Amino acid sequence: MSSSKGYGINKDNMSYKAASTSNATEVRDGYTPQQQQEYSKYLSKLQQEFENRWCKKTNSHTFSDYERVRTLGTGAFGRVILLKHSKTQKFYAMKVLEKEKIMKMRQVDHTLYEKRILEAIRFPFTVSMEFSFKDNSYIYFIMPFVAGGEMFSHLRKMQKFEESLAKFYASQVILALEYLHFCNLIYRDLKPENILIDRNGYLKITDFGFCKVLQGRTWTLCGTPEYLAPELILSKGYGFSVDWWSFGVLLYEMNAGYPPFYANDPMKTYEKIVAGKYRCPSRFNSDLRDIIRNTLQVDISKRFGVMKNGVMDFKNHKWFKGIEWDAILNCKFPPPFIPKFKHPGDTTNFERYTEEPIKPSSYCRFESEFIDF
Ligand SMILES: Nc1ncnc2c1ncn2[C@@H]1O[C@H](COP(=O)(O)OP(=O)(O)OP(=O)(O)O)[C@@H](O)[C@H]1O
Ligand SMILES: [Mg+2]
Repeated sequence: MSSSKGYGINKDNMSYKAASTSNATEVRDGYTPQQQQEYSKYLSKLQQEFENRWCKKTNSHTFSDYERVRTLGTGAFGRVILLKHSKTQKFYAMKVLEKEKIMKMRQVDHTLYEKRILEAIRFPFTVSMEFSFKDNSYIYFIMPFVAGGEMFSHLRKMQKFEESLAKFYASQVILALEYLHFCNLIYRDLKPENILIDRNGYLKITDFGFCKVLQGRTWTLCGTPEYLAPELILSKGYGFSVDWWSFGVLLYEMNAGYPPFYANDPMKTYEKIVAGKYRCPSRFNSDLRDIIRNTLQVDISKRFGVMKNGVMDFKNHKWFKGIEWDAILNCKFPPPFIPKFKHPGDTTNFERYTEEPIKPSSYCRFESEFIDF
């Protein structure tokens, strides 16, 4: 349903309708300044909704109504487990984080940010949180289950993506970063492991463990070696530019099947990144090379995404010819690939992990440190 201002969201509070765009099925190239201006109004509305949820305290739940199915992924502080609600039979992904590990790795602030951000964001290409709770030893985040698995697994299986598929995914990552930055959030961990494919073939970015509200600049060294931006490695204060650099790495990796900067020793990887030294496979066409060159641009003042035109440099780049941005946003663009998926709790798109018991301690660990969770 459109609002009277001409831009709007429909009943599910998600799909976007621009006032002056032509028929949604008509493919048009690029994005006009008028379209972007209108889209910015919509983003302002989403940003306001983000702010409202950000300031709201939410209620906690417990998980006695859920059945544990199996582990979907593991990480530094815990694991993500598939759950089934016994009454509704609905499936959820539960991220379990161990307070002790978070304390040892001094990640309390990052984890609190992760929780608050997951609670507050709502965008078609990002995961969000249904609810959270904690017990004596763990913190739990309950999210919708994204059944298609990690982009990482599909990329390794296909070796590289067809250009049309890479373009389809890249356009969603651009819209997701545009939304996050509009909400003043810097993501800082873009990589194929953190990008999930939903059953409709569209993406959901997950893992907001390094995401935070940006106030001016920030200095923390975090992320994944191959995806780190030069300004971050050089310990210069940095901002949103690091996400666009990682996007450039992703763009390259989706098309090549391997990342642009790689060495066995992370220090050597950093040297290559700082020097901006990489080579494109000979089959990369000139438009693809051009967009990568402008994104893997060591000089921030020349990097796509952070210059005066912002994301418009991407939206109107020749490589995205054929991408209809509003149709992508509304998931109306036909996905070039849909993951195999047989039934609601199907986990075949995820790797197997050894299961470990979740045993909360008999007394409350780090109560004061986790008071805000
Ligand atoms: N909503 C979800 N649906 C399905 N699988 C998910 C979901 N969220 C996460 N996963 C799976 O679990 C894996 C780990 O999750 P995530 O990236 O959030 O944790 P992590 O990498 O351990 O985090 P951290 O970097 O904070 O240690 C993901 O890569 C993905 O395979
Ligand atoms: Mg992760």
